[in-house]
Amino acid sequence: MNAPLRYSRDELMRSHPYARPHEAAGYRLHGGFLADGAYVSPRTLVRWPAVRAWGEALKARGWPLIDASDDLLKRDGYPSFEQHKLLLAKGLGQTLWNSLTVTGIIEGRGQGLCSMVAPDMQKLIVEPLAETATGHLNAGLLYAHGADEGGDPAKPGEGGHDAMWFAARDLVFGKGAYPAPEPPGSIAREVAGREMAELPEGFEQLIKFLMNVLMIEIRAESFFALCMRIFRDRDLFKDRREAAELAAVLVERIRADEQSHVGYLQVLISELRSFTWRAAGGETASGAAILDPVWARMVEWHGSTERDLAAARSRAAIESQVIAARGEGAGRALLSRFDALDERVMA
Ligand SMILES: [Fe+2]
Ligand SMILES: [Fe+2]
Repeated sequence: MNAPLRYSRDELMRSHPYARPHEAAGYRLHGGFLADGAYVSPRTLVRWPAVRAWGEALKARGWPLIDASDDLLKRDGYPSFEQHKLLLAKGLGQTLWNSLTVTGIIEGRGQGLCSMVAPDMQKLIVEPLAETATGHLNAGLLYAHGADEGGDPAKPGEGGHDAMWFAARDLVFGKGAYPAPEPPGSIAREVAGREMAELPEGFEQLIKFLMNVLMIEIRAESFFALCMRIFRDRDLFKDRREAAELAAVLVERIRADEQSHVGYLQVLISELRSFTWRAAGGETASGAAILDPVWARMVEWHGSTERDLAAARSRAAIESQVIAARGEGAGRALLSRFDALDERVMA
């Protein structure tokens, strides 16, 4: 039996019938629990099966799903688990505190997807879109994604990922343990000028925006794994093991929610490759021919170039934090131990 491929916005927004709402660390949060106690991500009752069905339909048309695994990341995250552990063991929590805070701020910005309206993709694409993920961007996919990240604007008081990261951070460190860091501007690959000059401008911007978001989601996955490992390490946060375990559980739930984001964006980019695009001047072109080189540059930038740049920025910030906390002599000694634990693959 084939799953349906057309959905209304209301259907894609539907959540499971929760036996218990999601509350943790004093916050009311999105998602909820089934009768058996299992956590279920918000707005996934229909959305997840729909994403899978669109992916299956694409494969049935003879097109693969693009790789959206962490194999795309050619560099490990920095600092490594062992490096974080060294800093935390020495009472230097600001590096992790800043990462958790900035992650929460960036998640909060994701709420902007709720008010984003994609251009009419049917104007770009020859094939009918009514039974594709691409055809449902404005039918709840973008809105549900934004609501997961920064909370549903229609449900004030119900926290999304931003609130969950801040809760996790405060569980392990305590509220206000360090000053608020300065968040970065855009974390997307910014390119001056056009890269898909064949397309009307709004389409190029949307397609590249969604590719950036997919790579950011894939990069986030490695940070989730790191946080869960740090929070669950019995040598760390010794005076608050129970709170740290709850922090790990919150990150585990964020990670579960994110899977649907990687899922629909993976199907979407894969669909776009499969379609015939109307280029400027009335010509038609293969989506893959236009998209693949841009996607390759996106993967290279997020998976290698930006990972190296981010590592260099982190290293500089850690150096000033350590020297400020320990003074020049002891600080340098600690930094050389820290650097000796650097296990990045510099292939
Ligand atoms: Fe998120
Ligand atoms: Fe996400």
